[in-house]
Amino acid sequence: MSEINQIYKRISKVIPNIEWDFHAPYIKKINELKKKKNAVILAHNYQTPEIYHGVADIAADSLALALEAAKTKADIIVLCGVHFMAETAKLMNPNKKVLIPDMDAGCSLASSITGEDVRMLKEKYPGVPVVSYVNTSAEVKAESDVCCTSANAVKVVESLGVDRVIFLPDHYLANYVQKNTKVKIISWQGTCIVHEKFTGNQVSEIREQNPGIKIIAHPECPPDVISASDFAGSTSSMVNYVKENQPKKVLLVTECSMSDNIQIENPNVEFVKPCNLCPYMKKITLKKILDCLDKENNEIKIGNNIATRARKSVQRMADIGR
Ligand code: 13P
Ligand code: SF4
Repeated sequence: MSEINQIYKRISKVIPNIEWDFHAPYIKKINELKKKKNAVILAHNYQTPEIYHGVADIAADSLALALEAAKTKADIIVLCGVHFMAETAKLMNPNKKVLIPDMDAGCSLASSITGEDVRMLKEKYPGVPVVSYVNTSAEVKAESDVCCTSANAVKVVESLGVDRVIFLPDHYLANYVQKNTKVKIISWQGTCIVHEKFTGNQVSEIREQNPGIKIIAHPECPPDVISASDFAGSTSSMVNYVKENQPKKVLLVTECSMSDNIQIENPNVEFVKPCNLCPYMKKITLKKILDCLDKENNEIKIGNNIATRARKSVQRMADIGR
């Protein structure tokens, strides 16, 4: 069976035949070009199934993408995700060419805070270390002491050995961290436009309608959603929870593509799917991946001064690990 038919066999459950005719030529060309140019495609768990299963070499949460970016031997990294993820990849591996298929793939959290805001916070709370979520610009990372992701936020905060930290920009993630540590968290008012839409009532209703269902939420969700859930964790922790526990029915309280992507590897699990789309993640398409790999455009560039300082924060997080 040809490589492309093997891919379709795997994803036919979530991609109808009529759509496959449209995707297949792109997948074939991208995979050929990837080999020719010694490129690697790192994709976030929220990418669509044709990207996640069709062209990604690694599909993972933002922490794993950063760690993989540091390790790769490829000459080119194509980051299928949002801009801060591509910037983080560049910080982790400055000598590689890092491309993003759409420069406008932003993030509501990353745009909720600037370097100037962080400087202002540091003036207000002198001596209090700044932990910034990777969902921030390189400029914000440069003003921070250390980065974290949702996979290691509590561990990073506790690694500092202090009694107070400034934790930015996600207010709800800050709230989640505060529930899991004695360190006092000073937070910012950023939110994720995808996760803030879920409500505790919605989750409780779904539980009532689906006895025995397991509900797992991303920590960017509001606190009432997390307390109405059975488990909270990063996107990869959510994937692992499903793999390991094989619940009969599950609700992933997060971005839509996650359920489709992992449905394939978990055929016996029924996914209940009220989910929200991330318009930024959805800016990435097969056509744009092919274009940017072919022309090697949309390259991530970070000025030396910011890059050197931002890299320290990301590297410190990488050293702490998951
Ligand atoms: P993860 O780090 O859990 O993959 O989440 C990234 C993200 O953008 C969630 O909205
Ligand atoms: Fe940003 Fe939310 Fe989209 Fe993740 S899902 S990239 S946090 S807007």
